[in-house]
Amino acid sequence: MLLVEDVAKRFKSGGGAVDAVDGVSFEIATGTFAAIVGRSGSGKSTLLGLLGALDSPSAGKITMDDVDVTALSPRGQVAYRRDRIGFVFQQYHLIPDLTAVQNVMLPMEFAGRRTAERRARAVELLDRVGLTGGKQTRLPGRLSGGEQQRVSVARALANRPSLILADEPTGNLDSRNGKRIITLLREFAGGGTTVVVVTHDRGLASRADLTLAMNDGRIVHRKSKT
Ligand SMILES: Nc1ncnc2c1ncn2[C@@H]1O[C@H](COP(=O)(O)OP(=O)(O)O)[C@@H](O)[C@H]1O
Ligand SMILES: [Mg+2]
Repeated sequence: MLLVEDVAKRFKSGGGAVDAVDGVSFEIATGTFAAIVGRSGSGKSTLLGLLGALDSPSAGKITMDDVDVTALSPRGQVAYRRDRIGFVFQQYHLIPDLTAVQNVMLPMEFAGRRTAERRARAVELLDRVGLTGGKQTRLPGRLSGGEQQRVSVARALANRPSLILADEPTGNLDSRNGKRIITLLREFAGGGTTVVVVTHDRGLASRADLTLAMNDGRIVHRKSKT
């Protein structure tokens, strides 16, 4: 269970301040495929960053299963991100001079896994996301956008996260490849894994179990499929 209670994030800028997230509360049951929608500037990325402990809220509390995310030390945040969270970004954020398989191995190296285990799991994950054979040993620059995003999904799964956070993962893809990525992310939700996708594609959002709509830092609408 992901529990968000009265969470706010204020950024100071120049003389003023922006309430990027302005007092949001919601819960997402474990295994849910959830979408966050809303126009640009509504606070979606900021909220996702708070859920993933990339940043700390100005107020409120976030609890992920048994972890009070908002009480973590900076070190605790690093371990939480490494062990519990898988991130997928619009721009893929792959390391350009590592091959696909090496990119997927990297989070496992940070988690202290042995090389043979890392390589075997990276190959298995790349197979699962549909990047097979010789493409696995290519550099990101020699893969299409859709293929690079599949590598980043495999990387996000490397340490068996309980929460996958994807910020506009289809933003740079054509609709066919976008659909494939959403289908893939959907497949990984369930069991102990929750997936939260930020998207402003209403069609993609309609495939989610739960949709949260944001406006001006607030959740203005919540729609559950069940
Ligand atoms: N690091 C930051 N410093 C100052 N303002 C920020 C920062 N990050 C985001 N904001 C502001 O917070 C608001 C929400 O931004 P963001 O979370 O990126 O929205 P979205 O992802 O929905 O487009 C915007 O007004 C944005 O300009
Ligand atoms: Mg954003």
